[in-house]
Amino acid sequence: MPLIPMRVMLDHAAENGYGVGAFNVNNMEQIQAIMMAATETNSPVIVQASRGARSYSQDNYLRHLMLAAAELNPQIPMAMHQDHGNSPETCFSAIDQGFTSVMMDGSLEADGKTPASYEYNVDVTKQVVDKAHALGVTVEAEIGCLGGIEDGHGAGLSGDEAQEHLTDPEEAERFVKDTSCDALAVAIGTSHGAYKFTKKPTGDVLKMDLIADIHRRLPDTHLVMHGSSSVPRELLDIINQYGGDMKESYGVPVEAIQEGIKHGVRKINVDTDNRLAITGAIRKVFAEQPEKFDPRDYMKPARIAMAEVVKARMIAFGQAGWADKVPVVSLDEMAKRY
Ligand code: G3H
Ligand code: 13P
Ligand code: ZN
Repeated sequence: MPLIPMRVMLDHAAENGYGVGAFNVNNMEQIQAIMMAATETNSPVIVQASRGARSYSQDNYLRHLMLAAAELNPQIPMAMHQDHGNSPETCFSAIDQGFTSVMMDGSLEADGKTPASYEYNVDVTKQVVDKAHALGVTVEAEIGCLGGIEDGHGAGLSGDEAQEHLTDPEEAERFVKDTSCDALAVAIGTSHGAYKFTKKPTGDVLKMDLIADIHRRLPDTHLVMHGSSSVPRELLDIINQYGGDMKESYGVPVEAIQEGIKHGVRKINVDTDNRLAITGAIRKVFAEQPEKFDPRDYMKPARIAMAEVVKARMIAFGQAGWADKVPVVSLDEMAKRY
């Protein structure tokens, strides 16, 4: 199956009441893990690459990895998405590389750190929507700022400051009218990375009620939850058991995400959990079999460990079982629909 616009997949998810995990890819083993999980569970998939991923792997390698995944798995509908594009130029270069969906994250300025004004956000998002929709490419935008910081991206907000930058439902409504974006990432108290919450989050720090309010106002906009790793205790324990040093931490419970899916969440971004699974598996081989030096001896278990996490999320989000039912719509056809 060719790569399809993400909008088609999210529309299908909305019609059928499920969510779709968006998993980050930086290398061959990660995309293989995602495709292993997708084929085992018959799931449509969103594979996404951050700016960091594009520079780490180089666009050409990444493009061919995505194309290989599509070629080898013709039964799996795939959307290829730019995660956190910091400027219209980043999004346009992704479109040139064949991405079928882009995120214009105008919640922050182009430095990826400074919270941006509403006007700036509308301006850059609109520029991307105009060009992307003419080509049938989906656009995700963001209103409000996520907490924390990961590899240089993020405003580094915490405490009261983070609360001040949560999504305002009224502003979200205005923003979608002003930009015509397809999907909207909302800030509800999550943050990127492994250290999200110091205890199991309750409604005062993870504001799921905001999602319900935004969905009531924007029933036709697909909501996106970033920073949605669950940071499972078992994965932290494996890392620490084999010489790692991860501090106690809590992520977003899968049940909270499932609640969000009932209220319009259609795309769920997960990266950290896969990083934890990979790291734990590699550490285990290094600790138990220190004589090993062939990268395949530790990359293979790492790939399996990531596939297990992705599979569990695909089942929990409800995308499992739908791959053969998502309509195949080309970018050209999609462009005519806008
Ligand atoms: O946006 C956060 C994702 O986990 C990607 O992270 O920018 O380190 O590739 P990255
Ligand atoms: P996590 O760090 O929680 O996996 O979030 C990933 C993400 O939001 C990518 O955009
Ligand atoms: Zn994110």
